[in-house]
Amino acid sequence: MESVVVRKPNELVIEERPLPVPAPGEVRVKVKLAGICGSDSHIYRGHNPFAKYPRVIGHEFFGLIDAVGEGVNQQRIGERVSVDPVISCGECYPCSIGKPNVCTSLVVIGVHRDGGFSEYVTVPAKNAYHIPDDVADKHAVMVEPFTIAANVTGQVAPGDKDIALIYGAGPMGLTTVQALKGVYNVKTVIVADRIDERLEMAKRCGADWVINNGLQSLEDFLKEKGIKPTLIVDAACHPSILQEAISLASPAARIVLMGFSSEPCQIVQQGITGKELSIFSSRLNANKFATVINWLQQGRIDPDKLITHTFDYHRVIDAIELFEKDQRKCCKVLLTFSE
Ligand code: NAI
Ligand code: MN
Ligand code: ZN
Repeated sequence: MESVVVRKPNELVIEERPLPVPAPGEVRVKVKLAGICGSDSHIYRGHNPFAKYPRVIGHEFFGLIDAVGEGVNQQRIGERVSVDPVISCGECYPCSIGKPNVCTSLVVIGVHRDGGFSEYVTVPAKNAYHIPDDVADKHAVMVEPFTIAANVTGQVAPGDKDIALIYGAGPMGLTTVQALKGVYNVKTVIVADRIDERLEMAKRCGADWVINNGLQSLEDFLKEKGIKPTLIVDAACHPSILQEAISLASPAARIVLMGFSSEPCQIVQQGITGKELSIFSSRLNANKFATVINWLQQGRIDPDKLITHTFDYHRVIDAIELFEKDQRKCCKVLLTFSE
């Protein structure tokens, strides 16, 4: 079989590898579609501190189970599945309180072990989530990015009274906008980004107002409208954003951080305590696959609004380069592995 392997930073090849055999408790997935994420590009470019090389990248993928290991029901062969990349121990403190996404021995498929940019991949059977017949392949491959939004929103119980402000209209901001509007019926969702094309996508995803905060002051914009956001999500992830969010927030607002910057950021505590703000963070997803599959079945989210390109996996380098270079035209780029 062929796999997309990052041999070392900046060296990506399609390599012939032996067909993997599922270990006890595992299934083998014949991959049909996979999605390119910023973190795949970070591993490729050597910017992911967790990655070990060589690595088959890819943590957003969908396919069919074509073999099962010992102890796994044979009837699963042929099942359509999307794979949760989070592998956890089930026993440590975070696992015991429902946060397997920060398990003390966390393994992420496509980061710490070989991932889904491959004709076949073996994964734990419990990570392979059944996709009902009424969910299309190209929606099934988008479950993982929407689980990030499910995790973000799951931290803060959004409601119809909320005025939400989302920084960043990349895939992460856009999935969050769709969840806030389609699932939680949030009254007002404002999206700030520096790229007009992305702001247009945010509108198509349901944003009520968009603002190019590279050209216009976000503070002035909110003042003019006479509003203070009650829920702020940083899906742009620049270290300067937290302090700005603290000062723009309504009293009693919640702020969710998604960034992994290692740069220090300066914040003033008075701004937090004076308004009794709550600051949350969100990493990957904690058992959110079933939730998102349900959203898809109910038509509450529409992944088509994020998908801009599809390439055959033999063109993976072109696909990643386009994804990296052209944020105006590109949002979610898919790779096809088999029909
Ligand atoms: P992306 O790079 O496609 O989107 C980021 C967007 O933010 C861009 O459109 C950019 O123009 C905009 N932006 C940059 N600075 C801004 C600012 N100061 N104000 C407003 N907009 C600004 O990235 P993607 O895939 O949407 O991911 C967003 C971030 O989320 C990344 O930093 C990524 O590392 C992080 N992430 C976190 C996850 C988690 O589980 N915590 C999961 C996936 C991504
Ligand atoms: Mn991803
Ligand atoms: Zn654990």
